[in-house]
Amino acid sequence: MAIDTPSSSSSSSSKAWVLQGLAFGAAVAVALGTRAYLSLGRSAKFRSRVVGIIPARFASSRFPGKPLVHILGKPMIQRTWERAKMATTLDRIVVATDDEKIAECCRGFGADVIMTSESCRNGTERCNEALQKLDKKYDIVVNIQGDEPLFEPEIVDGIVKALQGAPDAVFSTAVTSLKPEDAFDPNRVKCVVDTSGYAIYFSRGLIPYNKSGKVNPQFPYLLHLGIQSYDTKFLRIYPELLPTPLQLEEDLEQLKVLENGYKMKVIKVDHEAHGVDAPEDVEKIERFMHERNLS
Ligand SMILES: *[C@@H]1O[C@H](CO)[C@@H](O)[C@H](O)[C@H]1NC(C)=O
Ligand SMILES: *[C@@H]1O[C@H](CO)[C@@H](O)[C@H](O)[C@H]1NC(C)=O
Repeated sequence: MAIDTPSSSSSSSSKAWVLQGLAFGAAVAVALGTRAYLSLGRSAKFRSRVVGIIPARFASSRFPGKPLVHILGKPMIQRTWERAKMATTLDRIVVATDDEKIAECCRGFGADVIMTSESCRNGTERCNEALQKLDKKYDIVVNIQGDEPLFEPEIVDGIVKALQGAPDAVFSTAVTSLKPEDAFDPNRVKCVVDTSGYAIYFSRGLIPYNKSGKVNPQFPYLLHLGIQSYDTKFLRIYPELLPTPLQLEEDLEQLKVLENGYKMKVIKVDHEAHGVDAPEDVEKIERFMHERNLS
């Protein structure tokens, strides 16, 4: 994987937070152990109980039944679950769904399934409902999107460790390098971070915006990846926070977090997106897997 080494084109400020990410990624067990011990006495590691939730709904305007579509002979939801199983920071993984067919399929390959109501408006709500229905308490929930079946499990571990290492943050997420050709695509969400790796802003527009009005080939622009993790106490109030002006204008859920003054930790990773949003993406991903000899 995954967590980037600073490239020569990075500014010194972006180096600082990338390095911080690296430190968390590599030496995290030792570092967090010490930190938790110092700050919390003899009690366990900070935010130690972690659950990964894969929200999976059947209805989708663009791609009904998407979680069950077969990718090289295996349902997409199973591929997602198998990847999640490879993460080392998750104590438990559950599929949250409103659909009996999806539930049955998931139980068939051995997944833990929580039924959620059809009224959940989005993945965040579904995660929240599933979390309330779990018999155990967790400190962190990772929202694992089911439409990125080839995601690197190290990214999950990276955002979990980032949230464990940043007590002042309630939310963590990942970014990767933005390809220049995606600079003006509003479906590619850009992000800017401060020198400690906390999110400053997310936008569908290109940020930062060069004075020339063009993409600056030297600037390390960041693309937001969908995966996110939350402090579970925060997740309980998150849905109740009223929509905020910037969130509504950009139609970006995560802006509500920032506009309410909460902090969000961001890690930078190497990742090539292979999202499945529409039926035609299935063929693309299968071709990619053939090329890489993935099965
Ligand atoms: C804008 O981008 C150019 C390269 O395209 C770069 O030389 C310049 O430093 C950037 N910033 C400003 C303020 O022009
Ligand atoms: C997702 O659900 C939350 C409530 O849990 C709501 O505040 C938010 O507006 C919803 N976002 C979208 C994109 O529907």
